[in-house]
Amino acid sequence: MARETMTCTDNRTGKSVEYPILEATRGPDAVDIRTFYKDTGLFTYDPGFTSTASCKSKITFIDGGKGELRYRGIPIEELAGKQSYLEVCFLLLYSRLPTEEEARDFDLEIRHRSFVHEGLRNLIESFPSDAHPMAILSSGVSALSSFYYEHLQVESDAEYHEMASRIIAKIPTLAAFAYRHALGIPLIYPDIERSFTENFLYMMRAYPGGKMKITPEGEQKIRQVEIDALDTIFTLHADHEQNASTTIVRGVASTGAHPYVAISAGISALWGRAHGGANESVIAQLEMIGDVKNVPEYIARAKDKNDPFRLMGFGHRVYKNFDPRARILKKLQDQLKEELGLDSKLLRIAQEIERIALSDDYFVSRNLYPNIDFYSGVILYALKIPRSMFTPIFVIGRTVGWITQWIEFKEDPASKIARPRQLYTGA
Ligand code: ACO
Repeated sequence: MARETMTCTDNRTGKSVEYPILEATRGPDAVDIRTFYKDTGLFTYDPGFTSTASCKSKITFIDGGKGELRYRGIPIEELAGKQSYLEVCFLLLYSRLPTEEEARDFDLEIRHRSFVHEGLRNLIESFPSDAHPMAILSSGVSALSSFYYEHLQVESDAEYHEMASRIIAKIPTLAAFAYRHALGIPLIYPDIERSFTENFLYMMRAYPGGKMKITPEGEQKIRQVEIDALDTIFTLHADHEQNASTTIVRGVASTGAHPYVAISAGISALWGRAHGGANESVIAQLEMIGDVKNVPEYIARAKDKNDPFRLMGFGHRVYKNFDPRARILKKLQDQLKEELGLDSKLLRIAQEIERIALSDDYFVSRNLYPNIDFYSGVILYALKIPRSMFTPIFVIGRTVGWITQWIEFKEDPASKIARPRQLYTGA
């Protein structure tokens, strides 16, 4: 029950209406304007939803000013690299970290659900060989709804669990299939002896028959340091409250469509360069800059209002101080520098951009700091992950967030079909 209210006066008529202020447990409270149109005959105008809370949520909290991110109340710094990605999935889905036994059972369940129907394999093989893995992934996930049509009516907790664990388990397989298809190389099935993250690297890298590359020293194993780094990246991407793709997932959920179709729509939204596609653009941009000596020229272009060029991996709608995920990845990047031999040329360019931008008044005055994509791009590059797979990796991490938000939407009695208004200015 709201205790405080806000009065809104239409200065044209002098009519005042009082609106309840809903209390948040953290962050800004919200004015409940659901009856605004009925009361005043006016719409509110807020393109990009910069001041609009579209739902109540208990999943993720961000304080953009303080650079704070929490999943189910737990600061991201206590999770990334400390809990496995699958434990974080459990936390997001069930509001608490799993016991040791629950973590083991969940891990085993995900391993066993990682296979996909052969029909999906055939579908993937019908795509053009130069298709972007994101295009194949969003189509593959949409097609998954036809294999699990029963999830259109999820009602019990057990059904929610099955629907969520299926999609979490199958996304890495579809992503790896999409990648191998684009290369024209035989697809590799999941190996249930491997953990979630190791399995994904295995499905991308293994030779037909399941062997990794053979060197004079023997079979080249996937290194634990690579698995841990990618697992941390998955955790950092796991959820981010009402971001663009999650808003799309909730929007599709609001129409009553199948959950996997909603995830497919989220994947499409994530592909854009202003969202998850930025990590791929970061490396493309570093390669285009080509040399440390060219950095000032590109910084000048980013500042030029007549030039559409933007520094990829800089700026964020919510974080106006620093992106806590970027801070964790910067540390990880420094740790991996030695162990993985990061490409020194690209890294030097990235570090020069960071150095200049962080002390340049244009970036400082607009609160433009490196975001998660700035560092994840460089780390994924060091892990020898091809650029076209950067955004699919974001998808793998974010799937749990989308599905958790989908479930929250379904369970919220206040949920309604997403149907905004418009300010008509046409003829
Ligand atoms: N390079 C140069 N200038 C920039 C950049 C940038 N990367 N980002 C914002 N600006 C400038 C804008 O030109 C604008 O300047 P002005 O006030 O003089 O007109 C000001 O900073 C504010 O920018 P907006 O676009 O209004 O900020 P918004 O919050 O709408 O956009 C966004 C945020 C989309 C992330 C933007 O900063 C951007 O395009 N960044 C590059 C792409 C990127 O890295 N995206 C990843 C985001 S994180 C994620 O999705 C995981």
